[in-house]
Amino acid sequence: MINTTEIFPSERQKLFDQLADKLETAYNLSRKVVSFQANKDEPIYRWFKYKEGFSSALVKYFLTEYSSKPGKIFDPFAGTGTNLFAAQELGWQSYGVELLPVGTFVMQTRQALNEIDIDKLRAVTKKLWADLSELTYYKNHINHISITKDAFPDETEEYLNKYLTYCSNIKDKHIETILRFAAFAVLEEISYTRKDGQYLRWDYRSKRDLLGKPFDKGKILTFEEALKSKLNQIIQDLSPSRTASLFEQFENSNIEKKPVKILEGSCLKELPKLDSDFFDFIITSPPYCNRYDYTRTYALELIFLGYDNDQVRNLRQSMLSCTVENKEKIESLRQFYVSISQGETFEKVVEVYNDSKAMTEVNAILDELKKLKKLNNSNIARMVKNYFLELCFVIYEMERITKSGGYCVMVNDNVRYGGEEIPVDLILSEFAENFGFNINKIFVLPKGKGNSSQQMGNYGRTEVRKCVYLWQKR
Ligand SMILES: C[S@@+](CC[C@H](N)C(=O)[O-])C[C@H]1O[C@@H](n2cnc3c(N)ncnc32)[C@H](O)[C@@H]1O
Repeated sequence: MINTTEIFPSERQKLFDQLADKLETAYNLSRKVVSFQANKDEPIYRWFKYKEGFSSALVKYFLTEYSSKPGKIFDPFAGTGTNLFAAQELGWQSYGVELLPVGTFVMQTRQALNEIDIDKLRAVTKKLWADLSELTYYKNHINHISITKDAFPDETEEYLNKYLTYCSNIKDKHIETILRFAAFAVLEEISYTRKDGQYLRWDYRSKRDLLGKPFDKGKILTFEEALKSKLNQIIQDLSPSRTASLFEQFENSNIEKKPVKILEGSCLKELPKLDSDFFDFIITSPPYCNRYDYTRTYALELIFLGYDNDQVRNLRQSMLSCTVENKEKIESLRQFYVSISQGETFEKVVEVYNDSKAMTEVNAILDELKKLKKLNNSNIARMVKNYFLELCFVIYEMERITKSGGYCVMVNDNVRYGGEEIPVDLILSEFAENFGFNINKIFVLPKGKGNSSQQMGNYGRTEVRKCVYLWQKR
């Protein structure tokens, strides 16, 4: 067995020592505040749980703590738009990019809420079941892809198809959006599947030939049970008395809500098109380097929105590299930068990446572990290399589009592969510093005993850090 730390003197330890005074355990930022769980009382987040999201409270905390007045805010990995809508409530002009139509659909629904006629929605849902049972045909239907085939009981699937047809006939576009959203939000509950990070787990009752220990997800709701309960929740939340408390902060203030601007696409291609020195604040959370595959866990939602096999595969490959299936994007990025006459920028970013000694060490160790077959999957080395390389481009662009003195807040977790900790916080902060950000703080989320300052100094022997970085443009 090799001792990799003997072969590779730890550049990560050196980087840690260099940045140690920036690390600060943030007792006011619990994991709950950082994660989507703190959103459970907010409309839309209550209706559709995007587990990868962070909380509105986190966004509002940073905006009120680090800025004196609203300005322009951006999120290159907007997800379901937590940042954009929380900032909007405080009077900010929000802009975001999101690749997955799952997130953009939730954001569009959220925008439709402002226009919704609640009495009309109530009236439509009242006669929905009668209307649906009268429907004897369906012209719209779910087109499965290989990873979703047989996900629903037959009766449920028939109902879903009728419902899609029914929705497509609704004249009021806002009502149609909210009705489609209600079904979208219950797909997991009515299926034989459960989202499980890297993939979907399948219940033993499905028609699929399943390997391994049988999995029982518990009660599987019928379409009618699930949809009725979701629509009731939505209508209740949108009813005037409830809205008053849910939107209290906003209702009580006279802040003008500026429309949120959403771009659907990859931030790797959208960021370079944005103006320099434009934003006052960026708050974002990229996918973590943890192999989670959003295109698999959200496959039911994607096919519900009409995406086919090729489109889902394309989305998977366009995502920031965070799964073992992601292929290199560097050549297409080079061509893209050259096509917009930014070939020099491309070279500069790659140079910053190559100059990071900690990054080089991580890549060398992972290559070695791969050779020794000590990684669970041989593509982990490629994934990690490209994860950082792509984020290096994102960080360069984020610095460029931020105004001098403006802030960038990033939520991310460190990871460990083959027993080796990869200090995502330190390496990304090193990139940021090289591009022109000051590293004000790396807030470390408290985790009980995991990270006393003494343990934090003991490189590699601790639990991996979950952090919120605070960078400020010089
Ligand atoms: C951790 S989640 C962000 C969640 C968000 N903060 C929220 O509260 O909903 C990361 C997001 O990045 C998106 N994403 C991944 N690759 C992307 C890319 N190349 N361009 C834009 N978005 C991307 C994913 O679809 C996912 O929604």
